[in-house]
Amino acid sequence: MTAAAAKITVPELQRLKTVGQKITALTAYDYPFARILDGCGIDVLLVGDSVSTVVQGVDTTIPVTMDEMVYHCKLVTRARPRALVVGDLPFLSYQAGVCAAIANAGRLLKDGGVEAVKLEGGVNIARVMKAIVNVDIPVMAHIGLTPQSVHRMGGFKVQGKKSGRQPGARERLIEDAQAVADAGAFAVVLEGVPMDLAHEITEMLPIPTIGIGAGPYCDGQILVIHDILGLTDRFAPKFVKRYADLQGVISQAVTTYISEVRGGAFPADAQSFH
Ligand code: KIV
Repeated sequence: MTAAAAKITVPELQRLKTVGQKITALTAYDYPFARILDGCGIDVLLVGDSVSTVVQGVDTTIPVTMDEMVYHCKLVTRARPRALVVGDLPFLSYQAGVCAAIANAGRLLKDGGVEAVKLEGGVNIARVMKAIVNVDIPVMAHIGLTPQSVHRMGGFKVQGKKSGRQPGARERLIEDAQAVADAGAFAVVLEGVPMDLAHEITEMLPIPTIGIGAGPYCDGQILVIHDILGLTDRFAPKFVKRYADLQGVISQAVTTYISEVRGGAFPADAQSFH
């Protein structure tokens, strides 16, 4: 990355869609990762509520709290990234009413330092989304497989399949996409959606689509950082591509450390004071 690289903003993401340049996004939950990913030139850092499953060791994203999200947003924004930083609104921080939703979205900006918030839902949440956008808080939408709805969906399942058991699921997803764009979202995450449907939505919407398990035709892609680095042994969905095996690298390093301490090879003279 050159020193002159300009800060990524909400309008810049729109420009990237217009010129046909793919948007790159990853999750980050703390300062060191934010620094490294930003240094690589990533466009968007999402402080995802996936912190719950990836870092806190929980099975779903439901338990993570507002206070915890604010804390992780702070850790990421302290890296002063060039990337646009988006903070996830956790379960029940925005569904219960417009006033609470605005206050919680505002907290992620005021206390967490993020530049935009993300929330899950389509037609059902459009009114709340519009209210947040109306106080000038940029909103990234998230439709399709929405992990906060895991119990309604009966698991983490691809949504909007032609052969699915829910008739009209494709049409409903298209309605959701239109609803969030109409509500003023500046981008929409499409998660767990057949690629032809994601393609149709991407061509239909004026705002960028960011895919995760939604095929190659979205305007951008997002994945969970721990998944692509091989830092987790949780179930990896088909859409995850592992670019490294850091679990292996860490295990190797720690095993060597243990054996050197036990065998007296560490600390050597080089690590000792005279
Ligand atoms: O919480 C999360 O990590 C997400 C994704 C889109 C990756 O919502």
